[in-house]
Amino acid sequence: MLTTATRPLNRDAIESRVKELGPWFHDLDLGGVRTAPDHFLFDYPAGKFRRFAQVVPADLSGKSVLDIGCNAGFYSFEMKRRGASRVLGIDHDQRYLDQARFAAEVLGFEDIEFRQGEVWDVGSLGERFDLVIFMGVLYHLRHPLLALDLIREHVAGDMLLFQSLTAGSTAQPEIAPDYEFFEGVEALEQEGWPAMRFIEHRLAGDPTNWWVPNSACNAAMLRSAGFDIVEQPTNDVFYAQVSATPQRYGGAVYPHGGGTR
Ligand SMILES: C[S@@+](CC[C@H](N)C(=O)[O-])C[C@H]1O[C@@H](n2cnc3c(N)ncnc32)[C@H](O)[C@@H]1O
Repeated sequence: MLTTATRPLNRDAIESRVKELGPWFHDLDLGGVRTAPDHFLFDYPAGKFRRFAQVVPADLSGKSVLDIGCNAGFYSFEMKRRGASRVLGIDHDQRYLDQARFAAEVLGFEDIEFRQGEVWDVGSLGERFDLVIFMGVLYHLRHPLLALDLIREHVAGDMLLFQSLTAGSTAQPEIAPDYEFFEGVEALEQEGWPAMRFIEHRLAGDPTNWWVPNSACNAAMLRSAGFDIVEQPTNDVFYAQVSATPQRYGGAVYPHGGGTR
């Protein structure tokens, strides 16, 4: 659970505002008031973050961070705690941004900017960031690879912290650069071949849960979008870097020559 020194805001006032702004997906501790104490994933996302927090530098002084799909701001706050000089959180859901702004006020992080925005519009930010956080968003998108391509093309300056809902085999088999046709069709059947399951209807009642990749698929999509994987601390979390020698990135995706830098 997230804890920090808080401003001397009245506990009752915090409690009633937390209630007004609910329901919350992030369980934050706002001056002793928890925003989602009954979260189905328990102590979320602080408990999850503890499993991979070490991959992100402890000192982010002078660094800029873009948190895409920031929700109530958990990762934005954590990066600010590590000294990031600029943190911008974007989310397309105004309700979550209201939560994030209130949490920032209580936690004393008013210099974090929270802005309404779609991942599809990252090009309009006109800025690259030292660290882009893209946690828990990919599987909510009908066009996940397009989002990764846009992030790589427009806002990723150096590092990417990525997570997706992930299921299936955890194997990451060696994939050959090319296959003869029938050999390739057979190779697709091997355990851990990069694959995403498509959800035509709903998963957990959420119509925006479109895809569930396996671990190898997350890795392959990141590489294909022009990132090198630096660390994979858990099955579903990746710390990656903008690649100096991107694979299949550029011309193949943008037929008119976009993305060839
Ligand atoms: C599962 S939550 C993940 C929140 C946070 N990043 C985390 O890992 O705890 C997904 C978030 O992405 C936001 N989101 C979904 N689709 C989006 C899109 N197309 N553009 C911007 N935000 C989006 C949702 O509103 C929600 O806040």
